[in-house]
Amino acid sequence: MTFDVKRVRAAYPALSDGYAYLDGAAGTQVPSAVIEAIADAYRSGIGNAGGAFPASGRSDSILAECRRALADLTGGSPDGVILGPNMTTLTYRLADTLSRRWGPGDEVVVSRLDHDANIRPWVQAAARRGATVRWAEVDISTAELPPGQYGELLSERTRLVAVTAASNIIGIRPDVPAIAAAAHAVGALCYVDGVHATPHVPVDVGSLGADFYATSAYKWSGPHIGTVVADPALLETMHPDKLAPAPEGVPGRFEQGTAAFADLAGVVAAVAHLASLDSSATGSRRERVRASMSAVEQYEARLFARMLGGLNAMGHVTLYGQAARRTPTAFFTVTGYSPREVSERLAARKVNVWDGDNYAWELTGAFGLRDSGGGVRAGLVHYNDEADVDRLLAAVAELAPDGVR
Ligand SMILES: Cc1ncc(COP(=O)(O)O)c(C=O)c1O
Repeated sequence: MTFDVKRVRAAYPALSDGYAYLDGAAGTQVPSAVIEAIADAYRSGIGNAGGAFPASGRSDSILAECRRALADLTGGSPDGVILGPNMTTLTYRLADTLSRRWGPGDEVVVSRLDHDANIRPWVQAAARRGATVRWAEVDISTAELPPGQYGELLSERTRLVAVTAASNIIGIRPDVPAIAAAAHAVGALCYVDGVHATPHVPVDVGSLGADFYATSAYKWSGPHIGTVVADPALLETMHPDKLAPAPEGVPGRFEQGTAAFADLAGVVAAVAHLASLDSSATGSRRERVRASMSAVEQYEARLFARMLGGLNAMGHVTLYGQAARRTPTAFFTVTGYSPREVSERLAARKVNVWDGDNYAWELTGAFGLRDSGGGVRAGLVHYNDEADVDRLLAAVAELAPDGVR
């Protein structure tokens, strides 16, 4: 394994502005190769898809290559890769389509750990169909999502279980394979939100047991494009609303309007970038991306230990979530300061962090933080380094009652 953070950082022009970018969980910076791929698509001439002339053919090729790249990233099949503007839009679309099969007495299970984009579309679709929503709860002392509770939550009336592969504020990675297996045992589908997990760990939709796996490229160095990966045979059974002349086939019938072709070229470059992060990795793109994401996971774990250790040692900092299996994402409050004041103080020290509920609406509610401005989120991605972490720690230390103001 060869992970060289200096080499990695040099690929990102934005990182030269002197800020510590610890806001990656809300969206990452983009390497030059992605910027160039998008510019190259426009430079070379692209047309709408399906035409008889070369510029249209280039868009067709980009679309096909994008599906292959996302299949390599996730372990899915290119014919099951649905593309769209972002995860939220696609999840609403799939909730609308899947819920046509639901009626009174049917049940869906959502979790309090999830980002609202994997909760509200299901809650609202269930309400429209008269179906019942059941909630998987977080153990507040650890912030774990105990998989054992699914035995009681599921029944032969469960149609769908929606669960995240990692919390977007506390990074906790629940036991998705166990939850998906429990869902399948009662004949339910499992919709996995992989938006926060994908930048941090190797992904394999088969081993997760995900019938649907959603991710957004802008969280892993790509442009603002979302995708849901599913088994094409499952998609064949589903019929979303679509325009009469729009494609009948799968996955095209799930995609609305004209695709953002140049951005899709950027997605291909972003997957290539991820696959290159372990410079000693060899083999197919799928093999290299898996090896690279394992290297990323190990690198980030070391850096996160430094960050958590530092924050934990500060008496004026309260950290939320203590799970062992998590992405490098910390959520905390600072005594005497609102989360917004903390992020403003940190911004003045050129440290970018998020404050608020970060759309983990239910979880911040469960923590009792929703009405007091949420918390502060500092997240690492593969381009962060020790200097970023140390600047965060120094800036937070200044907020101690006896700190340097
Ligand atoms: C875990 C998680 N799920 C879903 C979303 C929504 O993704 P999108 O912005 O692509 O709709 C986010 C965005 O922050 C997220 O972090």
